[in-house]
Amino acid sequence: MTEFKNKIALVTGAGAGIGRATAVALSVKGAKVIVTDFNETSGNETVTKINSSGGKAIFYKLDVSNNEEVKSVINTIYKNEGSIDFAVNNAGVGGNFAGIHDLDVNDWNNTININLTGVFSCMQSQIQCMLKKGFGRIVNVASMAGIKGVGGGSAYCASKHGVLGLTKSAAIEFGAHNIRVNAVCPGFIETDLIKGVPKKILEFNTHVNPMKRVGNTKEVADTIVWLLCDESSFVNGSSMTIDGGYGNV
Ligand SMILES: NC(=O)c1ccc[n+]([C@@H]2O[C@H](COP(=O)([O-])OP(=O)(O)OC[C@H]3O[C@@H](n4cnc5c(N)ncnc54)[C@H](O)[C@@H]3O)[C@@H](O)[C@H]2O)c1
Repeated sequence: MTEFKNKIALVTGAGAGIGRATAVALSVKGAKVIVTDFNETSGNETVTKINSSGGKAIFYKLDVSNNEEVKSVINTIYKNEGSIDFAVNNAGVGGNFAGIHDLDVNDWNNTININLTGVFSCMQSQIQCMLKKGFGRIVNVASMAGIKGVGGGSAYCASKHGVLGLTKSAAIEFGAHNIRVNAVCPGFIETDLIKGVPKKILEFNTHVNPMKRVGNTKEVADTIVWLLCDESSFVNGSSMTIDGGYGNV
């Protein structure tokens, strides 16, 4: 995988969990990683982790739910770094759980703004940069909730279904421009995000999962790296599950 050497890879929500693991995995492959997050402290921790292991990373504060900020920060990154070759749109929240009849519209809007509109805004600016170079690889982090229903989690579920729709549309629009766009659909992965999931649901999931466990962040990061690299050169618009086979049960 020499194609990452000295290339620019941007990761959103890279201050923790899957985003941090992906930033680390990309730096190990030789990319200069643009670590972005709305949390400056954790974002800078990721940068320190990468730079102290001999990799190259730099932090830009970016709240993906703020469309104006996304435009301006991504333009600044492009100006400063000269290109955005790889992008991983990972930032996301679990949101509040409630039945549809009880869900506050502000909770709905917040989840959709971060998880879906955030991915749209980031992709829009990234693709404008990639079109100028005639090269781009994007992976959007969706979820098994982008494929299956989630009782009590309608906003999260709808946002992730939306991410898959965006991914498929972008793959059609930009495939001829040497820009590939794919998505990953992780099952439960050991991060802070699942701390809010009721214990009973996690236990049930582990019980029915063919592999009898939750996943870890490296397993997701390695799949994302594969989707970004040349080994997956004809994969475009796909929604790759990383769930130990749970989706087949
Ligand atoms: N952990 C799981 O089980 C799981 C399963 C499927 C999909 N996912 C998806 O993976 C992605 C990463 O989740 P994670 O599990 O690593 O969670 P996490 O909470 O560990 O990390 C999320 C990161 O996103 C950042 N973030 C949140 N809102 C942001 C915003 N508005 N702008 C910029 N950064 C923001 C946070 O600061 C944090 O660093 C999310 O999109 C999530 O929906 C997670």
